Amino acid sequence: MSGRTALSLPDAEATQALGRGLARVLRAGDLVVLTGALGAGKTTLTQGIGAGLRVRGRVSSPTFIIARVHPSEVGGPDLVHVDAYRLGSLDEVDALDLDTSLEDSVTVVEWGAGLVEPLAQDRLEVELVRPRGGEGHQGREAHLRGVGARWAQVELTGLLQ
Ligand SMILES: Nc1ncnc2c1ncn2[C@@H]1O[C@H](COP(=O)(O)OP(=O)(O)O)[C@@H](O)[C@H]1O
Ligand SMILES: [Mg+2]
Repeated sequence: MSGRTALSLPDAEATQALGRGLARVLRAGDLVVLTGALGAGKTTLTQGIGAGLRVRGRVSSPTFIIARVHPSEVGGPDLVHVDAYRLGSLDEVDALDLDTSLEDSVTVVEWGAGLVEPLAQDRLEVELVRPRGGEGHQGREAHLRGVGARWAQVELTGLLQ
């Protein structure tokens, strides 16, 4: 476990930049579990990951699409973007019968906490929160936590640079 890292995201561009930074360290087989309230920035972060991985197709809120595969345009890992909000159990994720294997992809799951952990012993958890406080607190904070040996040596503090 790599401990927790907190990053300040003053605007949506910073959220995208964190996604691009994450894409630099993400590899095929990785699982990223995103949590945070509606509007917290989960899809925005996934868009940055998609841009950094250079995958095809616009990453959007998969409201009526439980999972979407974005194929790599550069021979790297595909991006599998899952919205687990409507899923009741892991069996339904398995039953999606995606056109790519999770071992060959980077899988990003919105609302996946408490559901998809058995998919991978190693996972990167990212929680996006709106800081409480007075006016002017328009940004977000990201709390990152790597779980498992995969993330033990990964430096998460410099991802915004
Ligand atoms: N760090 C940020 N600061 C301010 N606004 C942000 C930030 N990150 C994302 N947003 C904005 O928040 C809104 C909701 O983002 P979205 O990614 O759709 O949230 P979610 O997928 O968690 O529901 C969008 O308008 C987005 O541009
Ligand atoms: Mg979303």
